[in-house]
Amino acid sequence: MKSVKAFAPATVANVCCGFDILGFAVNQPGDEVILTLRDDELVRMVSVKGDGGKLPLEAERNTAGVAVISYLRSLGVKQGVDIELIKNLPLGSGMGSSAASGAAALVGINELLGNPLSREQLVIHAMEAERVACGSAHADNVAPSLMGGFVLVREYNPLDVIKINATDDLYCSLVHPHLELKTEDSRKVLRQSVSLKDTIAQSGNVAGLMIGLTKPDYALIGRSLKDVIAEPIRSAFIPGFDAMRQTAVEAGALGFGISGSGPTVFALSETMEKAHAAAKAIQREFEKHRLKSDLFVSKVNQRGAYIID
Ligand code: HSE
Repeated sequence: MKSVKAFAPATVANVCCGFDILGFAVNQPGDEVILTLRDDELVRMVSVKGDGGKLPLEAERNTAGVAVISYLRSLGVKQGVDIELIKNLPLGSGMGSSAASGAAALVGINELLGNPLSREQLVIHAMEAERVACGSAHADNVAPSLMGGFVLVREYNPLDVIKINATDDLYCSLVHPHLELKTEDSRKVLRQSVSLKDTIAQSGNVAGLMIGLTKPDYALIGRSLKDVIAEPIRSAFIPGFDAMRQTAVEAGALGFGISGSGPTVFALSETMEKAHAAAKAIQREFEKHRLKSDLFVSKVNQRGAYIID
């Protein structure tokens, strides 16, 4: 039977100022999916490992299954597939866990069928999986997980995703406290309208970040890593948040913020050494609040999801 194994990386959505429109991928960690073609039309989740039994085993409710079903339907292909999911990403972490499973499954099924769709064309199917996972079909995790690097979602309808020609020299510190926060819940707390003042501040920072990434201008990247929309509300769920920003920047990071919908936080640095120092400094702040955390330090990933074998 024809089979492939695919990997898709964790992602940092929003990148502070780009709520629902900006994200980037990291090299590690990520989820893995093994897909095996069947000789009938059934799409089945045959196993999920590493989730502590928390994820659904029905293909229609699991992000890997939902993404594959959406893909096959759109192509009108009557092909069944068995899906084995290996979860390396913590659930409810803000590291794009649900997105990575969908992205890996899509890259896998696309490979098995001879790659009829481009990475950009796969995004829409991964968004369907996000809708099932958290009630919102945002693309700022799935697009960078599929395409790699920094990706801008300029428009949702029709979908317009653009990979940014960003500097390759950026290192990400991810610090994941042992707390679980569902994206659905941390979206519900947000205000539905934003003031003109906040819109101006956020737009300035998004534009500054785009210019900083492409020029590159590291000081401008640092100045632009600010969020006046989601962070003031969501940071209340993250003990020690304000002190972490200060300590991360003192350790050499360019900037700091919430990864996706949290509770994981991230920092961006110009060197691997500074990224390690920032991660440890942030971890010490979590310890002050009696919270254990996991550190993931990696260069920003330019490649996106890929076939392992
Ligand atoms: N943009 C989404 C949010 C990302 O902040 O809710 C979720 O990981």
